[in-house]
Amino acid sequence: MLDFLGDLKRTHMCGELRLSDAGRKAVLMGWVGRRRDLGSIIFVDLRDRSGITQVVFNREKNPAVHQKAEQLRNEYVIAVIGTVKQRDPETINKNIPSGEVELAVDELRILNVSKQPPFLPGDAGLANEETRLKYRYLDLRREVMQFNIEMRHKVAKAIRDYLSSQGFFEIETPFMTRSTPEGARDYLVPSRVQPGSFYALPQSPQLFKQILMISGFDKYFQIVRCFRDEDLRADRQPEFTQIDLEMSYPQPERVWEVVEGFLSAAFKAGGVEINPPFLRITYDQAILQYGNDKPDMRLPAMVDVRAALTPEELNELATKFRIHKELPIQLIRIPKAGDISGTERRTIGTYGAYQHVQGPSFVQLMTDPKRFAKDYPAISEKILSFAKIEPDDLWLLAGAIDKPESQAAREQSVQHFCEKCGFLRLDLAQKYAAKHGAFQKRDFRFLWVTDFPMFEWDKTEKRWNPAHHPFTSLHEEDMAKLEANIDSVNDPQSPLGEIRALAYDVVLNGTELGSGSIRIHRQDIQRKIFQALGMSEEEARARFGFFLEALEYGTPPHGGIALGLDRIVMILAGAESLREVIPFPKTARAVDLMVDAPTPVSAAQLKELGIQLKS
Ligand code: AMO
Repeated sequence: MLDFLGDLKRTHMCGELRLSDAGRKAVLMGWVGRRRDLGSIIFVDLRDRSGITQVVFNREKNPAVHQKAEQLRNEYVIAVIGTVKQRDPETINKNIPSGEVELAVDELRILNVSKQPPFLPGDAGLANEETRLKYRYLDLRREVMQFNIEMRHKVAKAIRDYLSSQGFFEIETPFMTRSTPEGARDYLVPSRVQPGSFYALPQSPQLFKQILMISGFDKYFQIVRCFRDEDLRADRQPEFTQIDLEMSYPQPERVWEVVEGFLSAAFKAGGVEINPPFLRITYDQAILQYGNDKPDMRLPAMVDVRAALTPEELNELATKFRIHKELPIQLIRIPKAGDISGTERRTIGTYGAYQHVQGPSFVQLMTDPKRFAKDYPAISEKILSFAKIEPDDLWLLAGAIDKPESQAAREQSVQHFCEKCGFLRLDLAQKYAAKHGAFQKRDFRFLWVTDFPMFEWDKTEKRWNPAHHPFTSLHEEDMAKLEANIDSVNDPQSPLGEIRALAYDVVLNGTELGSGSIRIHRQDIQRKIFQALGMSEEEARARFGFFLEALEYGTPPHGGIALGLDRIVMILAGAESLREVIPFPKTARAVDLMVDAPTPVSAAQLKELGIQLKS
């Protein structure tokens, strides 16, 4: 028999009671957690989102209530009325803030029962993820999930407060709209009243926020859901949340300042002080020094040791190791990793063992510093001091295997080679650095990567595509290069690849947190970009006509950025996957296991939408 709540009012949350409350009457409500039945006394950990209080049912003092308490099972919902008591010294629980007190219960109301859950919020071993996602409501009762979701709330609120205080308006943009320019895939929504026509869910509010600048709102932000039907990874979900912003007349530095401001507020809300301004490096530097456009700054950069060597020494190394002396010779250093075994060294040497570095045999490695020092004492000495190598650092040299190539191919291979070295650097760090105190999760190293290329070569389509999106502005100095090469969209050697965009990413510990740019505000330049992308006037009008028209009515210079809220919270919470910080996430196959979506729909529904499925 269940009890009614009646007019009973809760006086405290379960995590609130302290020694100073001893002697007070209290009314608590919550879930039955751990239970210990000692015969004449039953202890229950009563839990709500604030924590737990031990409640006590004593047969001697209150036989009726004690008898009722015998029915209690895991996850029943109860209300208890009682008196706060100081616990006996030997039963104090120092691990919880309410551990010095307990509630001696005078009245128990059983408000609801629960089936035996497939797993308990307090279970030490985690149920498999499928079970967790299917019973997400139970999973969310776990302390760590409560913590993550609270963190998410606090972070979002801090950002909202900060941007509001800086004069940004939060403005909503539509979810039912048309294709956006990000290039990834759209989720489509069929229209019933316009059979055969579809809305697209926004991949981002990109064009709307630019239009808000044309509309005179000057500073816009939105914490907004975005939808992308792309292949999923641990840091990607099909629906995710952006902190999206746009401002009129900014230099890139102004956008960075705003982001640094709200990230400081967000991290503070998560209990972490960070110190802007963040480091800045160009995209080209990032590739050369880290082999990556989102460098993890918890590790030292790679060093091209050629600068330390005389031409004779360089020749000697190049000949002996059969490496290219016109390409970097990268020193990869993992601080404090110490010496590693010969076997480990040989594994690195056959670097194909590294998942990411597989590919054409391209990188030649020198992995044995001792032997190197013996064979090349002078060179070794120079390199040690040039790269500031400490005695217990792990280091190795990587050179590109010498093959005759054209100049252009060689330049491309600089990037390719550095990327391979970059993967190796991260692999080694994951293997060796973490053990030695470097590469820690709570070491937050922010970075701006600037001057991204405007266009990137698409090997499959054999054409240049926008690296960010086609509304990104280029460097004013690179305008002439654009004009000179405006009709070379299918030429892989085109200098289009050298044009720099006013585009930037904010990166944290190897994760891209956000991406943005200064936009094109002039119709004539926008037209040139479309031309360079091989997009005819008609095609551009068909895709973005409304926007191109808006550009013609006095568009101010503007720019902005969007950051992934889920990624920020994931890193702050120390979680490994976005699913740990999104209340109702999808699996890697884009399925919501709790509600079981997506699902087929009825023939009648399809008919009404004018849709016929191919069997
Ligand atoms: P971009 O496409 O780079 O830029 O996205 C910005 C940021 O959004 C986050 N993000 C994601 N997070 C989780 N799951 C995903 N599938 C996902 N995709 C992106 C990342 C990323 O850095 N309109 C432009 C921004 C601009 O130019 O202002 C845009 O959307 O953290």
